[in-house]
Amino acid sequence: MRVLLASVALGAALSLSVAAQDEDPQVAHGRQVFERQCAPCHGQGPGDDGSAMLPGTAALTEKYEGSRPGALELRSDLPAPVLSLFVRRGVGAMSPFRASELSDDDIAAIAAYLDASSAAARE
Ligand code: HEC
Repeated sequence: MRVLLASVALGAALSLSVAAQDEDPQVAHGRQVFERQCAPCHGQGPGDDGSAMLPGTAALTEKYEGSRPGALELRSDLPAPVLSLFVRRGVGAMSPFRASELSDDDIAAIAAYLDASSAAARE
């Protein structure tokens, strides 16, 4: 039994490391930064104040009225130069991010991640 459990755990660990290896390192970095810095407002879950959506996702759903997804991870129209404009200047209720908080490389990585996540969602 113990051997069986160990081999199941090993199998799970191996398949996880294969998935991580398959992911482009820039995309993997972008996912990490997005989860830490953007997902608290732009994630796809409900808000922790009981609202149906997180504030960024809710604001963009309202703004685009269905012509674009409210969730950034489903958007394919935010290449690094466009994303950088919004993130560095701030927009509406979103404060700008300074280079000390988020580097240009981080923004490029987030753009690569959004590209990959929206492509995966379309499949
Ligand atoms: C404190 C919450 C919050 C955080 C954190 C946050 N945002 Fe936002 N963001 C918003 C809100 C709210 C809007 C909608 C602003 C408006 O148009 O009124 C927005 C708008 C945007 C837009 C504009 C999209 C469009 O089509 O108009 C982009 C791009 C964006 N955010 C990217 C990001 C990225 C990338 C991060 C992480 C680095 C991030 N945001 C972090 C709240 C947040």
